[in-house]
Amino acid sequence: MKNTLLGGLTPQQFLRGYWQKKPLLIRQAVPGFKGLLNPQQLIELACDENVQARIVTQQRGKFTLQHSPFTANDFQHFGKAKWSVLVQGVNHFLQTGTDIVKLFNFIPHARLDDLMVSYAPKGGGVGPHFDAYDVFLLQGTGHRRWQISTQKDQTLIEGAPLRVLKDFRVEQEWVLEAGDMLYLPPHCAHNGIAEDDNCMTYSIGFRTPAYQELAEQFLVYLQDRICVNGMYADPDLKLQKHPSEIGPDMLQQVAQAIRQVRWDDEDVANFLGCYLSDPKPHIFFDTPARPMSEAKFAQALRKSGVVLDKKTQMQCFGSTVFINGEDHPLSKAAYRTLRELADTRALPATDKPTQAVLALLYEWYLDGYLAPATAAKQR
Ligand code: SIN
Ligand code: CO
Repeated sequence: MKNTLLGGLTPQQFLRGYWQKKPLLIRQAVPGFKGLLNPQQLIELACDENVQARIVTQQRGKFTLQHSPFTANDFQHFGKAKWSVLVQGVNHFLQTGTDIVKLFNFIPHARLDDLMVSYAPKGGGVGPHFDAYDVFLLQGTGHRRWQISTQKDQTLIEGAPLRVLKDFRVEQEWVLEAGDMLYLPPHCAHNGIAEDDNCMTYSIGFRTPAYQELAEQFLVYLQDRICVNGMYADPDLKLQKHPSEIGPDMLQQVAQAIRQVRWDDEDVANFLGCYLSDPKPHIFFDTPARPMSEAKFAQALRKSGVVLDKKTQMQCFGSTVFINGEDHPLSKAAYRTLRELADTRALPATDKPTQAVLALLYEWYLDGYLAPATAAKQR
């Protein structure tokens, strides 16, 4: 089958030639794509208290930014201003959103941020900017003009509530229609302007965490796990001329103690799995109201398999599975089974889950991280 998603390129060719390197426009990447929501449904989602959304308004070249929570009233007073609403994490709330993200399974899940959906009437947009993200901008209904630039100058307008480029020099532009997609590597300057009144854009974003953030978070992770023996002692304490000074003996003793804090690649992998699978702070899981017994759950698993909840994030390394910020070291066989669940977000009906796998799946069902496939369909 011709790979329309990447314009006929194989994932390998795309990764080699474009990923993190240069933009790629793909006409009819998703033929027949009409979007997942209409503007009104997106606005309703933006008003959901569990959703993170922004409204960007633009009047006489000046941008204003508002953050959720929103009510329907916030969408009624735009007057002549151009505006846009942007809703984060749509894949966590719509099964069809999760399905769109699955098309990008050729990129590791650890790199995924989320699916953001925007709506703007004619002229709306967030202004020229760049992101620290890889992004696939898939057009739903309507048309959007995308202008891009590989310019080095990334100076932003000072004091603006949004990151808007001061001097944006358009190098290339295209008008995208339903099903067209534009891939942009991080730091590629871009500006998307709605061409009509039903312009909806689906942004599948892939994070590129700063090393500073990773290092800080690694230290947070480490702080709960380090084991440093002994305590300070100074039976040979010498009289100091200046009691306010930290003496060299104290310094040496403590420096040596702190050098006991060690880590290896496995600790780093475990940190990455926990940190990158950890849901954002506003994400909560719905636990089953009337949970079935483990025996009933095993029966449902045999009959229809399980699917991950839309909000669940899973990663794997070595023989450890990470789910929503938790690590679960496993046997090789259990790891292989649960890696399939992580890869595909589902496990088919299975006759013989081991007791260890069944126990974990049941625990995750009680936590609201997954559900039997039949029950999930009804939600
Ligand atoms: C949008 O959908 O309007 C903005 C997407 C982006 O530029 O990152
Ligand atoms: Co952007």
